[in-house]
Formats: sequence, C-alpha cells, structure tokens
Amino acid sequence: MKERITSLVEQALAGLRERGELPDTAHPEVQIERTRDKSHGDFATNVAMVLAKPAGRKPRELAEQLVAALPEDPAVRSVEIAGPGFINFFQSLEWLSEQLASALEGQRLGVPPAASPQNVVVDYSSPNLAKEMHVGHLRSTIIGDAIARTLEFLGHHVIRQNHVGDWGTQFGMLLAHLEEQQDQASLSAELSDLEDFYREAKRSFDEDPEFADRSRALVVRLQSGDEYCLRLWRQFRRISLSHCFQVYRRLGVSLSEEDVRGESAYNDDLPRVVEELEQAGLLTESDGARCVFLDEFRNRDDELLPLIVQKADGGYLYATTDLAALRYRQHELAAERVLYLVDQRQNLHFRQVFAVARKAGFVEADTELAHLGFGTMNGPDGRPFKTRSGKTVKLGDLLDEAEDRALALVREKNPDISDEELAEIARVVGVGAVKYADLNKHRTSDYTFDLDQMLSFEGNTAPYLLYARTRVASIFRKAGVRPEDITGTIRLEFEPEQDLAARLVQFPEVLEQVAERGLPHLLCNYLFDIAVLFSSFYENCPILGGEDESLRDSRLLLARLTAETLEQGMTLLGIETLERM
Ligand code: ARG
Repeated sequence: MKERITSLVEQALAGLRERGELPDTAHPEVQIERTRDKSHGDFATNVAMVLAKPAGRKPRELAEQLVAALPEDPAVRSVEIAGPGFINFFQSLEWLSEQLASALEGQRLGVPPAASPQNVVVDYSSPNLAKEMHVGHLRSTIIGDAIARTLEFLGHHVIRQNHVGDWGTQFGMLLAHLEEQQDQASLSAELSDLEDFYREAKRSFDEDPEFADRSRALVVRLQSGDEYCLRLWRQFRRISLSHCFQVYRRLGVSLSEEDVRGESAYNDDLPRVVEELEQAGLLTESDGARCVFLDEFRNRDDELLPLIVQKADGGYLYATTDLAALRYRQHELAAERVLYLVDQRQNLHFRQVFAVARKAGFVEADTELAHLGFGTMNGPDGRPFKTRSGKTVKLGDLLDEAEDRALALVREKNPDISDEELAEIARVVGVGAVKYADLNKHRTSDYTFDLDQMLSFEGNTAPYLLYARTRVASIFRKAGVRPEDITGTIRLEFEPEQDLAARLVQFPEVLEQVAERGLPHLLCNYLFDIAVLFSSFYENCPILGGEDESLRDSRLLLARLTAETLEQGMTLLGIETLERM
C-alpha cells in the first residue's frame, strides 16, 4: 500500500510540474507513513510541508493542489488534508477484500492473462560443451528459467533456446584426444569427467606438436563435413549434453532436448549471413578479416571497434553465429522479443550484434532485443568462485555440498524424521537454497557464494520461505480442514491482516515487473515480504480456537491465499516446496 500511494503522489507531483505549478526541480523524496491514530486515515505523507518552503508556498495550499492532482485509485477510499498540511489516505478495505476474493477464485491468483501475448525467445544456460557445466553457468540457467516460467504464466508463448557452444576450434583437440581412446570402455571412463578430458587434450595440444597438427587437421575435416569426424563429434556432443541434462534435472530446470539449438545448427547459414552483410554494404576488410564497423561503437581513444564476422583464414566467429541465430529467431521463430541471459561481460558483443542485425535487416524494427546481463558469483575472497586448488567449481559438486549441509541442519531440527523423508527434505532445501540465493540478488550485481548464509533459516532465504509455506500447511492440518473447503468473506479488521492483504493483491504487478525487466529478485523480495507479513499476522491474529467462526474462516482464507501465493511464486522461481520440514 505504501508503494502504491507513493506512486500516486509521484504521479500527482509530475502532473503539477508539467502544468508549471511546481518548479521542474521539485523532486522531493515522498515518505509515506502508517498513521498511529486511525481517525487520521491509514497512511499519511508530509510531502506538501517538505516542498512548501523551497517552493515558497503555503503547505496547505500545496497539499490541496496535490490532492486535486492525485489519480483515482480504487484501493484508496478517501484523502483528507489535516493540520499544517499532512495528506491522509484512507484505504478501501472493501476493495481489498474483493480483490482477495477474486484471487481465491480460479487458478491464477488474480493474475490476468497478457492482453497481447508475445512470442518470446529466451536464450539461456547455453554452456560450452567442450567442458563440464560449472558455476559460471548457474546464473544464466537459473535466472533464465525463472524468467521463462514467469512469461509463460503470464500467457506469453515462450521459446527456450539453449545456444550451446558445440562448434569451434577446440573440438579439434577434443576429437584428437577422443581418437586416442582405444575402446568403448576406456572412452566412457575418460568422458565421465569432461573437465579432466579437456585438460588432458589441452596439455597434449600445447606440448605435442604432432598432436596439435592432428587436431588442426581434424577441425578442417570436421568443418568440411567429413563423416568420420562428424561421428566422433556427435559422440562427444551427446555425452557432454547428457552431463548438462543431469544438472538440469537436479536443478529442476525446465529445459528439454528440443530446446537445444547450438552453434553448430547455424553452420550452413554462416556464408549466407556474411553475403547478406556484404550486400547491405556493411562489410569492411581489415588485415584480411571481414568486419562491420558501426559509428556508435568506439574504444576509449575514439577509434571504431570492429565486429569481426570472418577471419582471414575463412573461419567464422561467435558473432557470426549469433547473427545467424538472430536471423533464425526472427524469421523461423517469429520472435517479437528476444532475451539473452548471458554474463554482463558480453554486453558489448550483444550491443554490436543487435545493432548489426538491425542494420542488415535480420530483425524487424519493432522486435525487442535485450541482453539481460548478470554479475559474477564470487568466492569468499571476492574473486570469481574457484575450488581451493584454483579449479572451476563443478555444479554437481556444489549441489552435493549444499544437500549434505542441508541434511545436517534438518536432522538437527527434526531428530525423529525417517531417513528417507530427511533425504528428500534435504534435497529440496539444498537445491532451493542455492537457486534462491542466486535469484534474490539483483541480476546485475556480483555476489558472494556463501552456503551458511543461503541455508540460514533467518532472513531472505529459501529455508525461511519453505518454512513459512509449511507453517501455513500445518494450520490447515491442525484445523482439520482442506484449504479449498473454506468459504466466506475476508474481514480485514486488524492491521496485520490489512498489511498482508495489501501486499497479497500486488502479485500480478510484481510478475508483470519481473517479466518486463527480467528481474526475478523482485519476486523473491515480494515472497519474502509475504512470509514476514504472514508471520506477524499469525502471531497477532489467532486463527484457531476462537468463538467467532466467520472470523476463523476469514483468517483461514487469508492463510490459504498466502500459501497459494508462496507456492505459485516459488514454482515460478523454479523452487520446489514442502508440506513439512
Ligand atoms: N556459450 C556461451 C558462453 O558460455 C554463451 C552463449 C550465450 N548465448 C548466445 N546466443 N551467445 O559464454
């Protein structure tokens, strides 16, 4: 409600500035407070008094102007001016209660389906298959999945694209190394650890000139479509992808085999892409390489920056493939919006690719292209997360550790749960904690990986939310009723009820924001607020045991909407929930 009123006041201020009734420079910070005395309404602001002095105006007069400029809002019953120039807001509890009732009807918690559903391509996860998935791919995978799920829930047509790195020169040395494995058994043993496999191939490549030559020859053969090389490559690719899918399954990520469309899928389009750039008059040759120079991309010394699309030796690059992918997404997938969940450090790459694709006519003018970059996950030393010995951390190992720690924690709290149930709870808590810790940070900021903090039952963490969810479930168990059997209206007589209700009805707006800005942390913050508000409601407004049955039902309904909102919110974040823990 505070945010809602803040926004109303800000709109009123903007209106006054536009009409010249306030100087353009008048941008006061709008403070909305809850009132102590209900005869002064539910919320109040002193913004007119704060503004009056610098604007050289009388506070009450200014307050009147502001009130006149406030947009209508069904959640606000009335507005009054009091004392030296306070503006008091009375919220409409009938409106709130009606909103809650309609959220409880149907399956969508009051979230309307998108008025104009879009075809949205979400490019996420997209690891390089030469190596094993590591923590660097966690953020793209988890954040992308939450955004894809949210867009889908809002009624958009989401096309997931896992743009895996399955092509390129490093496959030469991998194939050369693969060739050296004599039989099937030694091969699968070797490939059980892709990281080691890659390291050994790289060592041979660096130390053994004969191996290096063989690698280079293999790449040439691979690229010219040699069947033997293609067979080896397919074998490697299949195994590497199966490692990825193991991780996806564990993480509960909604990516399937059909969503994989890697770099290799665009091979045949690459000559065509370069040709079309040529026809569009965009190509310049520089040291034998073919580049696009656009005026808006310059380095610090104001020199033009190239986007290289073909090397002097004829080879194509990451950028060429991305141009081909955009062309495909526009023409074949009919994308109206394309979102890229990729490390912030690739921002220049995407800005260049987008600009070139538009100039070349690969994408239509009204197709939205957005690089949703993210920061780095750091270790305790503030540098990109590595193992003690300096290796990259494998996702599988990381999840193992999270689950082990969760198991110890849950066992300590519930010594009498069966081992089987304990293991299941630990899995949900461990995986959920890792995912949630990533999701609840602003996408663009770096963050420190800290298992203790992620697994804490206090603060904005998965365990806290999961626990809140189980608490609601236990109320219904205690009451001996099924949530869906409760009927009646929701009465909002006490402040904790009103606060919880006011936040619950914001679910649709929050999802809209997540989808529009690609920021799942907004949903995390929202769910955390709901859990905190619920806990204060629970402590201050006894649900069971009273005489008044309609009050009991009203509170059970509020609990039910809380549970459903938490449940739906967690599902959109890709986090499983528990009935008890
Ligand atoms: N494979 C790349 C990497 O690991 C990410 C690909 C992102 N998607 C894209 N269309 N470029 O850095």
